[in-house]
Amino acid sequence: MGNTSVRGSWGSRLGFIFAVAGSAVGLANIWRFPYLVGKHGGAAFILVYLLSLFLIGFPVFIAEILIGRSTQSNPSGAFEKLGRTKSWGWAGKLTVLTGFIVSSFYSAVAGWILGYFFEAVKGNLSNFNSVEAVSQHHTSLMQNPFWGVSFHLVFILFCSAVLYLGVRGGIERWNKFLMPLLFAVLIILVIKALTLSNAQEGLRFLFEPDWTLITPTVLLTALGQAFFTLSIGQGTIVTYGSYLPKNENIVKSCFPILLIDTFVSILAAMIIFMIAFSAGVEPDAGPALLFHTLPWVLSQIPGGYIMSILFFLIVVLAALTSEISAMEPTIAYLIDEKGWKRHGAVLACGFGAFLLGIPSALSYSVLKDVSFFGLSFVDRLESICTHLLIPAGGFFAIMLLSWRWGVLKAISELELGSYEFFVRYPWIRTYFWFCFKYTAPILMIIVFVNSLMFLL
Ligand code: PHE
Repeated sequence: MGNTSVRGSWGSRLGFIFAVAGSAVGLANIWRFPYLVGKHGGAAFILVYLLSLFLIGFPVFIAEILIGRSTQSNPSGAFEKLGRTKSWGWAGKLTVLTGFIVSSFYSAVAGWILGYFFEAVKGNLSNFNSVEAVSQHHTSLMQNPFWGVSFHLVFILFCSAVLYLGVRGGIERWNKFLMPLLFAVLIILVIKALTLSNAQEGLRFLFEPDWTLITPTVLLTALGQAFFTLSIGQGTIVTYGSYLPKNENIVKSCFPILLIDTFVSILAAMIIFMIAFSAGVEPDAGPALLFHTLPWVLSQIPGGYIMSILFFLIVVLAALTSEISAMEPTIAYLIDEKGWKRHGAVLACGFGAFLLGIPSALSYSVLKDVSFFGLSFVDRLESICTHLLIPAGGFFAIMLLSWRWGVLKAISELELGSYEFFVRYPWIRTYFWFCFKYTAPILMIIVFVNSLMFLL
């Protein structure tokens, strides 16, 4: 343990912001958020979601950053150092394992999206003349095992290559290039979508609050979304936080990440609703949205070809930077705890995630008739992670901070590098103190107990 000489570190605050924002902005923002808002009461859901971010998402996120920064260790070492027992170390190892599992199926799903991006470039996604043709095209791609596995391989090879170049030379540099590109394309798409007929209708539907749709289950869905989108509970944020220097003002560098992540989710929802309403279609859930509804709608509207390319491009970019961050905890673990060199750790993690991702990539071809307790392989893995492992990881992180480490000690770590900032804005200190002590642990216990019920 403690092989600190080969550990990476961020080169600049901007680099850190882009890297963590790259991790946060992912499939959950562009693929899942729009649908959730549309289905669960528009502006009412957005408000509940913002409240979840404020009361639990952001505090747990900052807790993980603090755990990483104070120990300058991967999640396993970090949990063990602060928890002072081997069992806490195991909790940390569990979060590393969660990140690794996520990186396997995330890459498989991202592989399909990469494949769809090439379909868009070839013009195959904007010339359908019936809904049946869209689903036939989708089925023919998904049932081809080589298609899914080869794009999964290409995707993971690219991420591994970036990771191979190191924290600064790889993760930071590539995020600083990919994230601005993502923002630029996103803005172009918003402007383009605003010019479509009926775009206003889409926005009106999206932002109309319907409070009757907010049920306890919806509250938990909003919490789950806040968790997954901020990449917490799976070692990523602890690891990225461990590359921060002690003199960094954590609040100042992390708040923009929260804003970027939320902003991208809302913009993505606007784009999808404007596009869908312009063809008189209501956006669907999950795979159906990306692979059925959008190609159909884009075949109906002017400029569909360009929009299909841009749309799949932003999804690929968002997925790339998230996948990189999902793999990094395993790499940091192998380096810190097992004394591996970075290159070997990247190869092992990339190869392992590729292998474990194969059954996910084959879920709708070779394995299409195999059910894992009622779900396909990829959906089962995703469900275990989002309903069980990620809430468990978040629960352990906040319990580690509040019970073992101590709220006041954590707050002193938060003040390192930002003392004057806290003198100027004392309410920020109070907010974190209150969340660490009360709201985050209490809400986290509710989320965790609820996730255990999922096991029964
Ligand atoms: N935050 C990412 C998203 O919104 C997902 C992610 C998962 C990122 C795991 C890192 C690690 O899609």
